[in-house]
Parts: sequence; C-alpha cells; structure tokens
Amino acid sequence: MNKPLIQIADLCKSFATPGGEVRVLRDVAFSINAGERVAVVGASGAGKTTLMHILGGLDRPSSGQVLFEGASLFDSRGPALDAFRNRTIGFVFQFHQLLPEFSALENVMMPLLIGGMKRAAAAEIAVELLQQVGLEHRLSHKPGALSGGEQQRVAIARALVRKPRLLLADEPTGNLDSRTADGIYQLLDSMHERHGLTMIVVTHSMALDGKLDRVIELEDGALANDSLN
Ligand SMILES: Nc1ncnc2c1ncn2[C@@H]1O[C@H](COP(=O)(O)OP(=O)(O)OP(=O)(O)O)[C@@H](O)[C@H]1O
Ligand SMILES: [Mg+2]
Repeated sequence: MNKPLIQIADLCKSFATPGGEVRVLRDVAFSINAGERVAVVGASGAGKTTLMHILGGLDRPSSGQVLFEGASLFDSRGPALDAFRNRTIGFVFQFHQLLPEFSALENVMMPLLIGGMKRAAAAEIAVELLQQVGLEHRLSHKPGALSGGEQQRVAIARALVRKPRLLLADEPTGNLDSRTADGIYQLLDSMHERHGLTMIVVTHSMALDGKLDRVIELEDGALANDSLN
C-alpha cells in the first residue's frame, strides 16, 4: 500500500487569455500512495478542477511532471491515453457531464461497453451500481428528468462501474443531503476496502467530516497545506 501511485513535481499550468497569461497552477508537487484517500480543498478559483483534469490526463500541464506508477502520464497520447484512462481512472466531474440522450442505466453502462463488454453483462453490473447509489427506481430516466443530486449519483455510479484504481471526484456530494451523501461515503469506503481504491476528492465536507486520510490545500494555484487528517 506504500507505493506512490501518482507523483507530481514542478507542476505549472497557465492559460493564454485576451487579457494576458493566467497562471492557474504554480509549482505544485506531491506524491499520493496507492490506497490513499485525499481531499483537495481551496477557495473557488484556486485551481482544484484544473489540477484534477491534469491528474486524470484530460488536460496537459504547461510544465512539470505527472507520473503514474513512475511512468510519465503524458508520454502516451490519443487512443493509448484514452484506453489507460478508461481502464484505470473513474471521474466524477464538477458538472457531471452525463450524456443527455441516454438513460441513467445507459450512462452507467457506457464505460463497460467502451471497454468491450457485452450489453447484458454491462447492464447487470450497471444496475447493481445504480442500486448502491439508491437509484434503482430511475434506471430509464434521462439526465434531464433527474434531479441534480440524482444526476450526481449517476455520475458516481458511472465513475465506479469499471472498478477503477483511482477515483478523481470534483465535489461529488455537493448537491446531496447528508443522508444520501452518507450512502455515497459508505459505497466509497467499501470500494476502498475491497479494491484498495485510491481517491482524490475535491470536497470541503468530506475533509471536514474526517472521511478522508489527508488534506491538500491549494491557495491561488500553489500548495498551501498538505496534512494528515
Ligand atoms: N481555460 C481557461 N482559460 C483561462 N482561465 C481559466 C481556464 N480554466 C480555468 N481558468 C481559471 O483558472 C482558475 C482556476 O480554475 P479552476 O476551475 O481550477 O478553479 P476551482 O478551484 O476548481 O474553483 P471552483 O471551486 O469554483 O470550482 C480560475 O480563476 C479560472 O478562471
Ligand atoms: Mg472547480
């Protein structure tokens, strides 16, 4: 459990805008071990989402390193990077990004189908996940016919359906009442216990509740604090 899963060093990200260059991440460095549960906190605009996208290989840093099990994440590109991501990482985006034309069930099945699984087998696993997030009665609803918290739960089920090694979740329980959120924490706990799931979660509530092992704080794009919970 003590091997580094992710190591980042000297990580910088800037965006070119009409008003000039915006520096969003400044020399961020940390190492996260397999099985660790990490909260990422910081004020709005601190760079949390930008960091998560880079950790998941969805966006490239301007400079610096991202190593996944010692290998540079951005050495692979295109389909190879997509395949790695699909196999290894589950994402819960800040704005869930469900596919609007597909039902809750189909949205959750999608990563399995992309991975080559047959429809019937994929449906069986997806139903089980949707049951675990309390949505067995909403399988055929499309995202537009689901509440905000229900959409968030579909997104969580989709992120976990392939039993990823790493979960990257951006405010996954932001729209949920405390009881529903507790159910999600239990699901994450059991994934952690059963499969050693590593979690990096942008969240104030789970950090405050002590649901995670470690808290990394960003302030204006720089690492301001990194401590055990
Ligand atoms: N594509 C972009 N072009 C220019 N600036 C950007 C871009 N993406 C993000 N930013 C800026 O980078 C900063 C960090 O954005 P980011 O989305 O990472 O913040 P955050 O910590 O996730 O905030 P929140 O808590 O509000 O979600 C913000 O000031 C944002 O305006
Ligand atoms: Mg954000």
